[in-house]
Amino acid sequence: MNKELLKEQAYINGQWIAADTTFEVDNPFDNGVIASVTDCTVEHAQQAINAASDAFKTWSKTTSKERSKFLLSWNDLIIEHADDLAELLTIEQGKPLQEAKNEILYGASYIKWFAEEALRINGDLLPSPDGEKQIQIHKLPVGVVGIITPWNFPQAMIARKVAPALAAGCTVVIKPASETPLSALAMAELADQAGIPAGVINVVPSTASSDIGKALTSSPVVRKISFTGSTAVGKTLMAQAADNVQKVTMELGGNAPFIVFDDANIDSAIEGLMASKFRNSGQTCVCANRIFVHETLYEEFIKRLGNKVSELTLGNGLTEDVQITALINQKGIDKVLRLIDQATESGAEILVGGSPSKEFKNIINPTVLSKVNKDMDIACEEIFGPVIALIPFSDDDEVIAAANNISAGLASYAYTEDRHRINRLIQELEYGMVGINTGKLSNETAPFGGVKESGMGREGSKYGISDYLDIKYACIK
Ligand code: SIN
Repeated sequence: MNKELLKEQAYINGQWIAADTTFEVDNPFDNGVIASVTDCTVEHAQQAINAASDAFKTWSKTTSKERSKFLLSWNDLIIEHADDLAELLTIEQGKPLQEAKNEILYGASYIKWFAEEALRINGDLLPSPDGEKQIQIHKLPVGVVGIITPWNFPQAMIARKVAPALAAGCTVVIKPASETPLSALAMAELADQAGIPAGVINVVPSTASSDIGKALTSSPVVRKISFTGSTAVGKTLMAQAADNVQKVTMELGGNAPFIVFDDANIDSAIEGLMASKFRNSGQTCVCANRIFVHETLYEEFIKRLGNKVSELTLGNGLTEDVQITALINQKGIDKVLRLIDQATESGAEILVGGSPSKEFKNIINPTVLSKVNKDMDIACEEIFGPVIALIPFSDDDEVIAAANNISAGLASYAYTEDRHRINRLIQELEYGMVGINTGKLSNETAPFGGVKESGMGREGSKYGISDYLDIKYACIK
């Protein structure tokens, strides 16, 4: 791997900053230590906020064209170094190398997209009611943005937040997840090489996550918080951000229903389910979580699904063709095993898997559970592991009500050929995203985000930049 991308220090005001205290980052596959990273304190966060605030004075005055050019150079460097970045991502996060490479390119696609959107931050001229005044609409960057990112997509979530922020003219302080700071620091190194000016991007790795979160939310200089992570932490950050009336974008937990209707093509539904469920070994917010299958095709569905799941290959993410890899940490493993146990104790049946791998210590065998019901913990919580929980159903009203009977509202999926039903699902599923006959929703051109307790704001697409812009109205007589 290219050692120049393995950075262990904080990146503040264009400088690599060491501290007395460090923390270890380990490889989830074998728990081997791969780096000792600067453990930033609240003082470092404050330095980063000051740097971002100073840099904002000039960055916010650059032209869209200049910002676009910087973003394109960053994108080019990321693509040039995609293999190295992917390897780094796999060793710190665990996901299969091909998936890691896909994440790098997925992240880069947001940078390219927002480099182009920077050129389309248009104001407006509105008709005045009395014809005597001119009503101008200006779009201005909100200011310094605090960005807090998760461990499941350590590169793409940074790209998806930082790119629109920079395109809008904002500067950022990033607090990456302490499990996966290396991808964030590598991204900062490439931003540095791309010539993005000092202070525009700052990265403060730290194990003191809540202290850094508090530093960002309590600073009057930080005008917006963008967070991807658990609903519980999101609620805390929102409450803190209220003190300074900071804007927030919250991408929080999901609990996606995946509904297979009686007219579905079974093979394509299984293909979509496998793609959705086993991406990142089940550790995504948009993963299919509750799989509702119509009773008329339930038996056939579970037979074909069971065969496919049994064929999945397990191992080290660096090994070619591996599909299921280690979960992020022991806490994640314990949670998944607890959910399987609680479900089986309450009447669910294990069709495939159901236990930790005997060969690989941090991997859970891909699992299929049948006879799950909506009251089991596994149906009420985000699983975040390679477990398919199957729930039979008999009619449309019942399944739509069950799908909506939850506080989350991020992604949802349905397989059916019926046009009327498709229209009804799009109207009635209480989710920010609805996938019809597909298990893959995410791309840079589409607005990613949720409703209800899955959060607010949208990332990606033409809508994704508006969260980083304030509207100023000028009335001229
Ligand atoms: C997530 O799970 O947090 C993001 C997944 C995606 O961008 O597709």
